[in-house]
Amino acid sequence: MTQALDEIKIGGLGASRKRVEDDRFIRGKGNYTDDITLPGMLHMEILRSPLAHARIKSIDASKAWDIPGVHLVLTGEMMATRNLAWMPTLSYDTQAVLATDKVRFQGQEVACVIADDPYIAKDACEAIDVDYEPLPVIVNPKQSVADGAPVIRDDKENQPDNVIYTWEVGDAAGTDRAFEQADKVSRLQLHYPRSHPSPIECCGSIADFNRATSKLTVYMTTQAPHIIRAAVALVAELPEHMIRIISPDIGGGFGNKVPVYPGYVCSILASILLECPVKWIEDKTGNLISTGFARDVYLDGEMALRNDGKILGVRMRCDADHGAFFSDAQPSKFKLGLIHSAFAAYDIPVAHLMARGTYTNKAPGGVAYRCSFRVTEAMFFQERMVQAAADDLGMDQAEFRRMNFVRDDDFPHRTPLGFLTDSGQYGKCLDVALEAVGYENFRKQQQEARAKGRLLGLGISTMTEPLGAGNSREYDILGIKMFDSAELKVHMTGKAIVRTGARGQGQGHETTWAQIVAHELGIPAEDIVVEEGDTDTAPFGMGTYASRSTPVAGAAVAMVSRKIRAKARKLAAHLLEVSEEDIEWELGRFYVRSAPDRGVTIQECAMAAYSNMPDGMEPGLENTAYYDPPNLTWPFAVYIVTVEVDPATGVWDVLTTVAVDDCGVRINPMIVEGQIMGGLTEAYAMANMQFITFDAEGNCIGSNYMDYLLPTAWETPGFELHSEVVTPCPHHPIGAKGIGECAAVGGPAAFVNAVIDALSGTGVRNIDMPLLPDRVWEAITYHRDISGAPPVRTDD
Ligand code: CDP
Repeated sequence: MTQALDEIKIGGLGASRKRVEDDRFIRGKGNYTDDITLPGMLHMEILRSPLAHARIKSIDASKAWDIPGVHLVLTGEMMATRNLAWMPTLSYDTQAVLATDKVRFQGQEVACVIADDPYIAKDACEAIDVDYEPLPVIVNPKQSVADGAPVIRDDKENQPDNVIYTWEVGDAAGTDRAFEQADKVSRLQLHYPRSHPSPIECCGSIADFNRATSKLTVYMTTQAPHIIRAAVALVAELPEHMIRIISPDIGGGFGNKVPVYPGYVCSILASILLECPVKWIEDKTGNLISTGFARDVYLDGEMALRNDGKILGVRMRCDADHGAFFSDAQPSKFKLGLIHSAFAAYDIPVAHLMARGTYTNKAPGGVAYRCSFRVTEAMFFQERMVQAAADDLGMDQAEFRRMNFVRDDDFPHRTPLGFLTDSGQYGKCLDVALEAVGYENFRKQQQEARAKGRLLGLGISTMTEPLGAGNSREYDILGIKMFDSAELKVHMTGKAIVRTGARGQGQGHETTWAQIVAHELGIPAEDIVVEEGDTDTAPFGMGTYASRSTPVAGAAVAMVSRKIRAKARKLAAHLLEVSEEDIEWELGRFYVRSAPDRGVTIQECAMAAYSNMPDGMEPGLENTAYYDPPNLTWPFAVYIVTVEVDPATGVWDVLTTVAVDDCGVRINPMIVEGQIMGGLTEAYAMANMQFITFDAEGNCIGSNYMDYLLPTAWETPGFELHSEVVTPCPHHPIGAKGIGECAAVGGPAAFVNAVIDALSGTGVRNIDMPLLPDRVWEAITYHRDISGAPPVRTDD
């Protein structure tokens, strides 16, 4: 007779348990970096460059030093005396901490003032006199490689031009042969513009160096505390065990809080020099103009097609604009992140990709904004290209995709650009989405509306995304292998604490990690506390980005729970006075196989671990697991959007958005839905309204939230979510795949495809995002594609 616990009741796998962290967030009791005040704390502000490219002739900070309340003015020259004017980046480049020779983008850090309060520090920044000699400015890759282009990184030896790398993946000769055999070649060129993660909380740090103990504690907004600890140890040459990074509550990260920013380094140096805590909190414009931009890739592709719709091969060329420093994080083997995951959902025999990265006079770019290292650009291009190819063949959008999908029985599938995808039911997801949107009916309505001059459109986007780097064989950042960790301590009374090397920023880890332990051990989720983000207590991990938490840290939580269960089994055998082989497990309880009523709970085993262990057994019930995933997890999604475009104004309204996400086993279905809705909101914002760009002088246009719009509940359309397709991940311990960024990755193409579909027959193949009304209107009126590449004109 089973006495197993009801898994949903104890908050295990599949329970839509309310987010425990929200108790403190909705009561205003969160603990963000800016909430922290330490005794004797001073405040730091940064002076930023108004120019995008200029030689620094001199910096006169004497007036700033004279202002009462100012304790320190840091300049590049002072940093250089400590070998800190430049720092290494996460992509083997160097980045200026404070400018010495030149400024290379508008908003670059030139000096810092540390004062009694932030207002004095700000006033003192304005009193610093910098004499600049303006230089010619470059704002796109074409200008970077033009004859006679000024060399932006003249600080580097062996850097005669502005090219950072060229990178090639795939089979060039095989792809050429596929194109020779093609009935038709389809081509598409587009620019995925800069977009900005713009978390509600900006970046910031409080550095607290204690001379008496030689310990440096830094509270900071980082998604990867252990990596920051290693970086601080290397850059500041401090012993790693004397550095404690605490990442308290984080008000959204989205990739923006992965890089190491100059503000962090300056606050640390200031604290060491002044021997008191120094706080730096960035303002919104500082965040928007200087920190981790995303995207900015020019994509140009061709597809070799057979008349019956079979894709024979793909060529892709990518020109990435990285800004002044190559500073975004990505696995060191892959120069443009995982851009080569493009077309992974399609069974394409051969492909070839060429990528080039260039420097420009813009803030460092390329950060993985809610995506796994450039997967967003890859999936966007894939689905825009697939739509263009289907149109060129005169084929139905859905049918063209279906006939080229990887089949359910063809997994694991080797993609033409080298990945191994794990599992999926792509056709089924498409069927569910088509049914939900009423596909056939909509196509009829679209034709009828067209006859009356109304423009309706339907956009499909599908995607499979590689989530959960490593494995450690292929994935590393700066040589540090990508894996993750979890530590589980079960106390005497059966209550527990889990710590992981991940660091959530609002994704609900405090809720879901407890659910995994509940699933593995039968300890109710409410008896488990989750802690992340303190390098002195959490096991080493690579942090949270690229939706890697569930695939890697979540797997580590399951594995460490299994280690605990293995020890608990021995304790159960001891308590029940039978051999281990005679013991069976059911949720929450061990029992004797031949006498199921004789059993002990996991809580009784925990008590025995501290009070009644067998002879020779090490006391306690604690363990740690490091998990090195055998492969990435590959969730799949279909997003379908319908729109109506007003031909007179170019304004477009979303009629329906349908999302079918297959992320394997859902730990917490409610949290998964929240992740999808958040991702779709960001996708809609990128496609519709988020405009941040540069003029010919390198001025950042859209550097405030009056211009760079964040969608509110008012603008955001409704979403219809479907969860009926579940393909468990074959290699993840609980069958889960990542979900955090799927909708932000796959969503934008659905919105853009819908608008382009509404314009079908006008000859318009592409409008670059954001699809602002004036761009759409211009495309309709003049029957032409609209490029959004900078420089933009600002004189009209
Ligand atoms: O790395 P990040 O937390 O941003 O992304 P994720 O691992 O995809 O997880 C996002 C949130 O969704 C976490 O709270 C996960 O535990 C939860 N999740 C889930 O409940 N089921 C899944 N199959 C995947 C994620």
